[in-house]
Amino acid sequence: MRRRGSRARHQGGHHHGTYAPAVKRSHPARLTQANPNRNQGAHWDCYGDQIQVATNPRPAKSPVAYVHPSKYVDYQLNPDLATAQRCIALLAREGFSVSGNAGFDWIHDVYLILIRMFPHACPPTTILSLNARYDPHYHLKVGATLRSLRRDGYLLIGTGGAVHNLYRNRWAPMLRFRDNFAMDSPPEAWALSFRQSVEDVLLKTSGPQLRRAMTRLMKHPDYRGAHATDDHFMAAMFVAGAAGDFEDEGAAAVLGAETWELTNMCNSQFTVGRWAGRL
Ligand SMILES: [Fe+2]
Repeated sequence: MRRRGSRARHQGGHHHGTYAPAVKRSHPARLTQANPNRNQGAHWDCYGDQIQVATNPRPAKSPVAYVHPSKYVDYQLNPDLATAQRCIALLAREGFSVSGNAGFDWIHDVYLILIRMFPHACPPTTILSLNARYDPHYHLKVGATLRSLRRDGYLLIGTGGAVHNLYRNRWAPMLRFRDNFAMDSPPEAWALSFRQSVEDVLLKTSGPQLRRAMTRLMKHPDYRGAHATDDHFMAAMFVAGAAGDFEDEGAAAVLGAETWELTNMCNSQFTVGRWAGRL
């Protein structure tokens, strides 16, 4: 599928960590409060100054390496096109170069999470791209622009990873035994260090301090070790924008689940605020 002006990072073996983890147990999703779903994933990155919103009424699923299709082929996707138009309008009003993309197929960073979170049925979901310049403040502003949706009961999800450097993972057990959770040595110091800083920022700061601290993490001495590319960390900026207003000072935040995969990759699931939605 060709997408004008954007690229999907997964085709051809670029990994979302491994794919298996999300299917087996957990996924590095960072959540903020609140029904239908607004979702920003790490694998759809637009060139130039663009951001795009998925407007494909019948999206296919991009296949996932290492995961048997039976785990996801039958899950019926539920694109929320009305909310897509609403997101486009909100972003345009803030000056973003934003457009709909009617040819976009959903990628595992979104649908595998939805399968795990909502196994019985996909909630109405709208997906946004990243911008491939990976400016933390840009992505923070995307979250800040869309945070008003929380008041209408939307759940905003940023999907990426706390520690996600595929070049420094230990792949042998996965390649030999299909075991993504095998760990024949502990995670390395740089990975543990950065993971701890991510937890500290999410659980010990709130409001505008959360925004400042999250963007500052990209200057952490272990940041580049933990993220060889910036794509998987932008979701954290989106979340900090969406949940880091003055109104959010003192908001509850929890680390609800976590896995280490391929020895050095840490998938942490945080929730900021509360979501009373039922599906
Ligand atoms: Fe990924």
